[in-house]
Amino acid sequence: MPDTLTIKDNRTGKQYEIPIESGAIHATDLRQIKTSDSDFGLLSYDPAFLNTASCKSKITFVDGDAGILRYRGYPIEELAEKCTYLQVAYLLVHGELPSKSEYEQWVHNITYHTMVHENVKKFVDGFHHDAHPMGMLVSTIAALSTFYPDAKNIFDEKSRDLQIWRLIGKIPTLAAFAYRHSVGMAYIYPSNDLTYAENFLSMMYRPSWTTKYEPNKTLAKALDVLFILHADHEQNCSTNAMRTVGSSHPDPYSAAAAATAALYGPLHGGANEEVVRMLEEIGSVDKIPEIIRQVKDGKRLLMGFGHRVYKNYDPRARIIKKIADQVFEVTGRNRLLDIALELEKVALSDDYFVKRKLYPNVDFYSGLIYQAMGFPMDIFPVLFAIPRMSGWLAQWQEMLLDHEQKISRPRQIYLGYPERHVP
Ligand code: SDX
Repeated sequence: MPDTLTIKDNRTGKQYEIPIESGAIHATDLRQIKTSDSDFGLLSYDPAFLNTASCKSKITFVDGDAGILRYRGYPIEELAEKCTYLQVAYLLVHGELPSKSEYEQWVHNITYHTMVHENVKKFVDGFHHDAHPMGMLVSTIAALSTFYPDAKNIFDEKSRDLQIWRLIGKIPTLAAFAYRHSVGMAYIYPSNDLTYAENFLSMMYRPSWTTKYEPNKTLAKALDVLFILHADHEQNCSTNAMRTVGSSHPDPYSAAAAATAALYGPLHGGANEEVVRMLEEIGSVDKIPEIIRQVKDGKRLLMGFGHRVYKNYDPRARIIKKIADQVFEVTGRNRLLDIALELEKVALSDDYFVKRKLYPNVDFYSGLIYQAMGFPMDIFPVLFAIPRMSGWLAQWQEMLLDHEQKISRPRQIYLGYPERHVP
């Protein structure tokens, strides 16, 4: 049987053969379906892209029904167990796990790009003490574009590599500076003798530059695994923003600022913060029935539940639950975990959630770990943005090098007034 779709337009009786490629049709093949020569031709209408592929990609594979997530073919469970975040970042950007020498060079390049220009501190200083760290991060990532005009050479591979090292290297520094500003503490500069996660913990929590600080190895390792789990997730909202903004060919800092802004939303990366606020509001397991009732009455969402793609358990949530036990051995158990576990149990046995295939997603348990590690709630989305930077950059680069891609400019269905004249 041929890989085609036969479409009969009942308005005209005409028949069309539309080729099927990789389980999809080219939407532009619908334009030939017209009722007259002056007809624009058929469009496909898909608000929020529920059933539209915006690109071809070789980076991440998600099977939502089976609860499968793979980066460049490797199962997330194996990467989380056997790799470091920087090995995974290399894999996402370059397509293969690095050799020993490639990895050493990659770590060196990123480590030696963790510092930011002294003037960046003036941006951070300019924010109110209670500014949300994600607002500061969006702004300072965008500001970096003004320090590196060479970043506009997006079709020069060496320039792209340099910006990729800079963005992966500097986002933890920007994140830590935002936190230090919000608590009125002096900025702690990067320490090149620490690992990526250790360095971030040092910039966040080292009391002062003159005070020795040894990041807890268990917590640093747990954070590194959480970074792996959050590194990429195919065409999610913020990655779509990275690709869309990147498609008009600005520098990658401007595109990354847009992606960070998209991630900030409570329906996306901001959910980990909202989950903990929701659990704190619940306060005790006996309040769970009331919350479930409010959700079923459509009065609120169960934050950390549901997913556009996963209609099964998010494989990342499963791994995060395991990490929680390791972290709580060091930090002490987060009392909210009991509420979260009971909430999951109640929800997964309630037809409202079962019918809609709503399961815990990556954000349901991650906030509990971050809170136990001492991070303030408004930093949680920042902890999502840090690792997602490597995924955004991998997707941005793939878009730039894809000859089928061009500036993103969707069509619309116009339902407004026909021509009318100013009286
Ligand atoms: C991330 O895309 C990615 O890959 C994202 C991400 C990544 O790694 O980049 O995985 C990270 O963003 C995870 C999601 C974090 N967000 C939340 O936890 C916020 C709560 N979740 C919902 O807002 C929602 O589930 C979304 C946004 C995640 C998905 O929304 P969809 O796909 O548009 O689903 P929908 O809104 O069409 O919901 C289908 C039905 C609706 O009910 P009906 O109208 O059919 O009666 O399920 C209901 C929704 O009301 N529903 C929920 C719900 N999520 C969906 N009802 C209660 N609580 C929820 N959380």
